[in-house]
Amino acid sequence: MAILADNTETLQQTANEQGAVPGEPPLRADRVTKEYLNGARVALDNISIDIKENQITALIGPSGCGKTTLLRLMAGLEYPTYGNVMVYGEPVLGPGPERGMVFQAYTSFPWLTVRENVQHGMEIQGVSKDEQRDKADHFLKLVHLDEFANAYPAELSGGMKQRVAIARTLAQGPQLLLLDEPFGALDAQVTWEMEEMAVDIIERESKTVVLVTHDIQEAIYLADRILFFTRQPGKIKADMPMEFKKGRRFAKKEDLLVEPGYVEMEKRLYTMMREEIQGRIG
Ligand SMILES: Nc1ncnc2c1ncn2[C@@H]1O[C@H](COP(=O)(O)OP(=O)(O)OP(=O)(O)O)[C@@H](O)[C@H]1O
Ligand SMILES: [Mg+2]
Repeated sequence: MAILADNTETLQQTANEQGAVPGEPPLRADRVTKEYLNGARVALDNISIDIKENQITALIGPSGCGKTTLLRLMAGLEYPTYGNVMVYGEPVLGPGPERGMVFQAYTSFPWLTVRENVQHGMEIQGVSKDEQRDKADHFLKLVHLDEFANAYPAELSGGMKQRVAIARTLAQGPQLLLLDEPFGALDAQVTWEMEEMAVDIIERESKTVVLVTHDIQEAIYLADRILFFTRQPGKIKADMPMEFKKGRRFAKKEDLLVEPGYVEMEKRLYTMMREEIQGRIG
């Protein structure tokens, strides 16, 4: 508990130091266009969205529709060609401690142990050794890797490596999590376990999450709201709050499958995906 209370304090300080404007959404894209190749490729075309606090927002759509691009703009790894991306009302000028990103590819340092990997970001932030240790213990337990603290990434499975990346990101205390297909490289059963673990962690740690996925069932299971993107140039085709979930999150994936409204939502998303893949925009 102490760790969580400390986190909150640090985050509020960070937000205040950055001059965050009260009442502003955690993330906002305001008429954002992103072009590549001197305008020959339009990855995102005039996108405007507000991400809501404490919600999981899933970005879904066919390959190449700009999902990763939007996440990278929110992370401050790239900049819009036109328009603005804001974090708590302030323009995104680069990466910041209130935003943590997890990529699809495993990103642990092979020469560091699991514990050292988790502590690495905190070390850079100048966190004291004792606090690093406490937080690493807390987050390794949360991702069920406490028994592997002294192992090296090469000794771990793909799912375990991805859990190291998640623990490392969480240990840095970001309020906002930007997840780019975090389970995309894992096999079906591990993915399913990781999705349930993600619900548990996001719920316990009260995070605001933007999740990119191409998996329709994963989007419905994890998200409070789904933004469906059209094929290139990326635009928002539909903004869908998961009303049938009535604000609930489900610890077990199978419990969601029998909820009234689930099948209709799944069918709607498959139909939209087929329309996009076949190039029938509408
Ligand atoms: N650095 C770059 N230079 C040129 N074009 C780029 C660059 N990055 C992305 N693009 C283009 O922008 C478009 C959107 O790419 P993006 O990676 O955001 O798609 P995505 O929705 O994440 O796709 P996927 O589901 O396959 O990951 C694509 O057409 C891609 O080729
Ligand atoms: Mg992508």
